[in-house]
Amino acid sequence: MERQSWNTKLGFLLAAIGSAVGLGNIWRFPYTAATNGGGAFLVPYFFAIITAGIPILILEYTIGKTYRGGAPVALARINKKFEWLGWFQVMVAFIIAVYYLAIIVWVVSYIGYSFGLAWGTDPTSFFLEYLGVTSSALELGGVQLNLVGPFIIVWAITAFILYRGISGGIEIACKICLPILLVFTIVLVIRGITLPGAIDGLNYLFTPNWEAITDSSVWTAAYGQVFFSLSIAFAIMISYSSYLPKKTDVVNSAFITATANHGFELLAGIAVFSVLGYMAYAQGVPVDEVSAGGVGLAFMVFPAAINTLPAFKSLIGICFFGALFTAGITSLISILQAVITGISDKFDVPHKKSTTIVLVPAFVISILFITGAGLNILDIVDAFINNVGVAGAGLIEVILIGWFFNLEKIREEANQFSNFSVGKWWIYSLKIVTVVVLGVMVISNTITFIREGYGGYSSTDVTIFGWGSLIVALVIMAILKNMKGKEGYSDLSNIKEVE
Ligand code: ALA
Repeated sequence: MERQSWNTKLGFLLAAIGSAVGLGNIWRFPYTAATNGGGAFLVPYFFAIITAGIPILILEYTIGKTYRGGAPVALARINKKFEWLGWFQVMVAFIIAVYYLAIIVWVVSYIGYSFGLAWGTDPTSFFLEYLGVTSSALELGGVQLNLVGPFIIVWAITAFILYRGISGGIEIACKICLPILLVFTIVLVIRGITLPGAIDGLNYLFTPNWEAITDSSVWTAAYGQVFFSLSIAFAIMISYSSYLPKKTDVVNSAFITATANHGFELLAGIAVFSVLGYMAYAQGVPVDEVSAGGVGLAFMVFPAAINTLPAFKSLIGICFFGALFTAGITSLISILQAVITGISDKFDVPHKKSTTIVLVPAFVISILFITGAGLNILDIVDAFINNVGVAGAGLIEVILIGWFFNLEKIREEANQFSNFSVGKWWIYSLKIVTVVVLGVMVISNTITFIREGYGGYSSTDVTIFGWGSLIVALVIMAILKNMKGKEGYSDLSNIKEVE
C-alpha cells in the first residue's frame, strides 16, 4: 500500500506549527505563566523549551522520518519491545481528542454569540446554563440540545479534512487556518495594548516573582505547558514527520516549529492580559481579581472583559473565538491523525478505512462531553491525562530511547541532512536533565492525585474519570500491541523511502 506524504516541506512545517499552536497557547499559557511566578515563570519555561521541548521535537521528527511509521510502528522498528509505548501515546492522543473537540464545539457557539453579545451581563451564569452543567461528573443530565448543532459542524469539518488525507486535507487546512489565526491575533494584540490599563495586565503577567523559581510546582507547570503546547509525547510529531522524505532537515524544522509556537504563545499572552488589564482598570480592581485559567478564562472572564470594552465588542469576540477555532481545529486534526497513522501503519489498513475506525468511536465517546456532565468530566480527564499521561509518556520515551537504545545513533540520523548539527548537549539534556525533571514531575503529580484527589471532586468521580481514563488507555494499549499486525511491520527492511 502506497504511503501518503506531504506535498512540500513548507506544508509539513505549517501542519506541525498548526498542531502545536492550539487552545493550550491561548487559554493555558497566559494563566499558567501569571500564576506561576509571572516573569519568573519564563526562566523554567525557556529552560524546559531548550532542554526538553526542542530536543524531544528533534527526537520525534528524526524517529518519524527515519523509521517511517506512526508512533507504534516507528518505535517497534527501533526495538520490538518499545511498541507498547507508541500505543500508550496513541491512546493518550485519542482521549485528548475527544474532549479537545468539545471545547471547539463551545467555541463555535461563542463565535455566534459574539455577534449579539448573547452572554449578557453575567457571562459565568450564561456559560453554565449553556452547558446545562450538573452537580457531579456522574450525573449526565442528558445531551444538551443547543450543543448538537455546533457538535455536528465541528465533526463535519474534522472528518472532511481527515478523510482528504495528509496533503489533500491537513496541509491545505493549515495553509488556510494559520494566516487567519495570525490576523485575528494581531487585531487582538493591537486592540489590547492600546486600551487603558493594558500595562497593568502585562505587569501582572510579566513581573517576576523570583521566589517562585525555587518552587518545584512552578517547574512542573512549565514542563507541562511546553509538552502540551509543542504536541510532544503523544504520538503527533512522530506521525506527522513519518510523511517526510528522509532527506529533510529536521533540526531546523524543530527550531522553526518551536520558535513559531512559543512566539505565538507570548503574543497570545500579551493579547489576553492587556484586555484583562483593561477590564480590571474599568472595574477599579486589581488584575488578579479578574483573571482565571482554562475554561473560565475563555468562556467566562473574556466575555465579561468584552462587555467592558468601549467599542468593537462583537469584533473582538469574533477575533478571540475565531482565533480559538482556527488554532483548535488544526491541533484537533493532528491529534486524531496520530491515532489514524498508528492504526493504518500496523494493520496495513487504507487511509479512509483507518480514518473511519478511529472517528466512529471518537464520535460516540465525544457525545459524553455534550451532556450536562461534560465540563466536569473534561476537567478531571484533562488533569490526569496531561499531568500523568503525557508527562509519563514523555518520561518513558526519553528513558527507552536514551538509556535502552542509542541516542548517538539518532543524533547522527538527525544531523545527516541538517544544515547545522546538534551537539552532545542534546544527548545530556534528554538522558539526564529531562529524565530527572520529568521523573520528579510524574511521581509528585501521581502522589498528589492519590493523596488529595483533584479539584474538590468526589473520590468516585476522580476514580472513574481520572484514574479510569489512564487505565482504559493502558488496557487498550495492551490489546492493540498484542494484535497481529501486517507481516513484518516492525522490520527495518520494510521501510520505503520517498524522494
Ligand atoms: N499543542 C496543542 C495545544 O497547545 C495540543 O493546544
